[in-house]
Amino acid sequence: MGRSTNRGGKTAPHVKSVVLVGLMGAGKSTVGRRLARRLGLPFADADAEIEKAAGCSIADIFEFHGEESFREGERRVIKRILQGPPKVVSTGGGAFIDPETRKRIRAKALSIWLRADLETILKRVKRNDNRPLLKNDDPRGTLEKLMIERNPIYAEADYVVDSADTAIDKVVDAIAERLDARAGTAP
Ligand code: S3P
Repeated sequence: MGRSTNRGGKTAPHVKSVVLVGLMGAGKSTVGRRLARRLGLPFADADAEIEKAAGCSIADIFEFHGEESFREGERRVIKRILQGPPKVVSTGGGAFIDPETRKRIRAKALSIWLRADLETILKRVKRNDNRPLLKNDDPRGTLEKLMIERNPIYAEADYVVDSADTAIDKVVDAIAERLDARAGTAP
């Protein structure tokens, strides 16, 4: 069982998986990997697992099989990930929007919405162009629309943590503090 150590030196057991949700570019994979190390839990990146299962990139799944096929794979892979022992899971931006996956995450895990503002997200997604939903003439407009549609759903997560221009370790601290408080060991 994983335990986290906060700055006060207290530890808390983590019996449930912790699932990071939120828009593309919110930092879910980077934060997730570091959070897993902090909590002493395994880490699973749902997008990477989908690519492994499909034997090709997400961009190729979208291009050759279509978004619906990607969503089916995403549902299947997250179900499998959550069946195993507790871990930290980073999900693709659309995962929590799917009602079935959202229900499963609620039942099996604690969810954290990594929230970032539009400018931060734009800056981060510009670093690579492997996101099929943003391969168009107006990524800003697409992201604005996705924020309007999705933010109220991400807000259903158990916790909201801002990941704007904050250092990754600060974001990880903020999540660990919430988990420790939940476990009743916060100062
Ligand atoms: C998607 C986000 C991507 C990836 C796919 C679809 C979305 O993951 O799953 O391109 O619907 O928002 P990231 O959020 O890790 O970029």
